[in-house]
Amino acid sequence: MPISPADGRPRAAPFLAAGGVTAGYGGAPVVRDVTLTAGAGEIVAVIGPNGAGKSTLLKALVGILRVTRGSVRLGGDDVTNLAPEALAGRGVGYVPQVGDIFEPLTVAENLEMGGYLLPRSAIPGRIEAVCAVFPMLGGLLERRAEKLSGGERKMLAIGRVLMLDPRALLLDEPTANLSPRLAGPLLADHIRRLADLGKAVLLVEQRARAAMQVADWAVVMVSGAVRLEGRPGELLARPDFELLFLGAPGSEAPERTPPR
Ligand SMILES: Nc1ncnc2c1ncn2[C@@H]1O[C@H](COP(=O)(O)OP(=O)(O)OP(=O)(O)O)[C@@H](O)[C@H]1O
Ligand SMILES: [Mg+2]
Repeated sequence: MPISPADGRPRAAPFLAAGGVTAGYGGAPVVRDVTLTAGAGEIVAVIGPNGAGKSTLLKALVGILRVTRGSVRLGGDDVTNLAPEALAGRGVGYVPQVGDIFEPLTVAENLEMGGYLLPRSAIPGRIEAVCAVFPMLGGLLERRAEKLSGGERKMLAIGRVLMLDPRALLLDEPTANLSPRLAGPLLADHIRRLADLGKAVLLVEQRARAAMQVADWAVVMVSGAVRLEGRPGELLARPDFELLFLGAPGSEAPERTPPR
């Protein structure tokens, strides 16, 4: 059973905190009473079946959807229902699953757009800082985004958001459409590195096993509510956990670690 290196350690103090968040699209709430936190340096994985409300939760946390009950706090401040730009200005970075880069523009232009809240004079320095985190982007600055590979696109989408140097990063299925060969390193290397830089990372993933291997904490959502949460290793050690929440064992074979 894979045990996360974080098992047994106390959790980081909350930076991003959802308290009883309820949200939806105008009809019956899609997300109900969700409480979770992510602290600096922590990767919190949110997993759950299709339609569980994971993307809806992220949209509510970043100000795209209205929170109808409950609160969102950032570093102790109540930021519930602030506009997306206001939240971005306070350090919230959000990478949606699709539609996150501008294909006709170059990598450099996409990064510039990500720095839309910054004075122009600050942009070159930030591009340099982002390329220091994702060196692959540094070699592609003049390439049009439409010519990038799937993995490069995802890196650019995250890079755009990094332009504002966010303290909290909310990532919606960053490995979607990536081959297992690219998905593993994106999670284990790049996203882990962002957490190690001190960012609070809320990671929604359909690759539940891979996400749980890199996460410090895992939250299982079912039907709009949190069903279960805990250290990934502890959850995976529960009898039936895999069968109930991860599908048939082996269904994500490429991401499984070999038995130890
Ligand atoms: N724009 C929308 N208007 C109305 N209902 C929506 C809208 N977007 C999503 N929903 C509904 O909200 C529920 C939760 O959807 P959501 O996209 O949050 O799930 P998810 O957990 O992200 O699923 P997946 O793993 O498939 O991405 C679903 O029943 C979905 O049909
Ligand atoms: Mg989704």
